[in-house]
Amino acid sequence: MDYRQLGRTDVQVSALCLGTMTFGQQNSEAEGHAQMDYAAAQGINIFDAAEIYPVPPKPETQGRTESIIGTWLQQRRARDKVLIATKVAGRTKMHWLRKDGSLGRQSRAHIVEAVEASLARLKTDYIDLYQLHWPDRPMRVFEGLDYVHLVGDGHPIEEILGVLGELVRQGKIRFVGLSNETPWGTMTFLNASEILGLPRIASIQNAYNLVNRSFETGLSEIFYREQVSLLAYSPLGQGYLSGKYEGGALPSGSRKTLFNRLGRYEIGNGPQAISAYVALARKYGLDPAQMAIAFAASRPFATSTIIGATTMDQLKTDIAAGAMTLNDAVLADIENTHLTFPNPCP
Ligand SMILES: NC(=O)c1ccc[n+]([C@@H]2O[C@H](COP(=O)([O-])OP(=O)(O)OC[C@H]3O[C@@H](n4cnc5c(N)ncnc54)[C@H](OP(=O)(O)O)[C@@H]3O)[C@@H](O)[C@H]2O)c1
Repeated sequence: MDYRQLGRTDVQVSALCLGTMTFGQQNSEAEGHAQMDYAAAQGINIFDAAEIYPVPPKPETQGRTESIIGTWLQQRRARDKVLIATKVAGRTKMHWLRKDGSLGRQSRAHIVEAVEASLARLKTDYIDLYQLHWPDRPMRVFEGLDYVHLVGDGHPIEEILGVLGELVRQGKIRFVGLSNETPWGTMTFLNASEILGLPRIASIQNAYNLVNRSFETGLSEIFYREQVSLLAYSPLGQGYLSGKYEGGALPSGSRKTLFNRLGRYEIGNGPQAISAYVALARKYGLDPAQMAIAFAASRPFATSTIIGATTMDQLKTDIAAGAMTLNDAVLADIENTHLTFPNPCP
């Protein structure tokens, strides 16, 4: 396993991070623990969660993922051996997140309440990387490549960062990160931290995969100039890039079969692009899932690529991909396919 520096911190994270959003829904506690055991044994030192997990988010399951991580940390006495990343929701209609039933926001009260609840579920007194799951300002997230301006107010970035600064001073969080952010948002956080002496953003967790390389159009420059690490999520396009849904297949137990909420991979040129990448992998005798993960993990700006699995076989395949090197012919073919179908599934 390769290790890379997280932002400008002194922390080294593994090139692969274990995503946990299936724990408590598609995966039981025992399965989650087995995944964490295997991942840790393979050198993965960072686990990614969120207060809203597991997915799909529901009031009756919310928090289960962090609780499963918490029992693992306790039973394995592993708190000082791994890094825990989790997230506070942004502006949301999920009214079940807060005790008073108010809609989730990144106000001072909501962030403090969310951190305390995550710490309790994780059975720890500190979170290594605390991420803003998506922006608090009115924004279209999880769909579309273009910026759509929505009118309305959000909590000012300086105020949000100020609360995170208090939590860092209290030792409850070590580093702060963004997720589903734009270049404007990332630079505004960085400027505020410099001017106000508040914590510096270490990372940004955005989708990044063969059919969504939108990080490369603006945010990658921020990685190089400001050292904000990308934690790349959905390297398999939620499973599509493994080829499992080719030809309209619906494998039993898979995320699409169970929840049918993956429309972003079925619009426009998405299906053609996915088929092209699956065929490309097979042409070179590669497993399509491994090619997709190896591609993401080998990008210089992808400090850690967040994999997710629902079976141990998947997990073994995916972790092995982290050590693969794609040859020049494969990379050239990938570039050609990208030029033919640029970012069809943002
Ligand atoms: N910040 C955010 O907004 C955000 C959003 C999404 C994810 N994330 C993070 O990123 C992590 C990973 O995201 P993701 O689950 O979307 O990643 P992904 O790698 O794109 O998809 C993982 C899913 O694909 C299927 N799969 C995995 N390996 C496979 C293989 N070798 N062959 C066939 N199918 C395979 C499994 O689902 P099935 O078995 O159900 O098919 C697995 O759960 C999450 O756990 C979470 O920590 C963050």
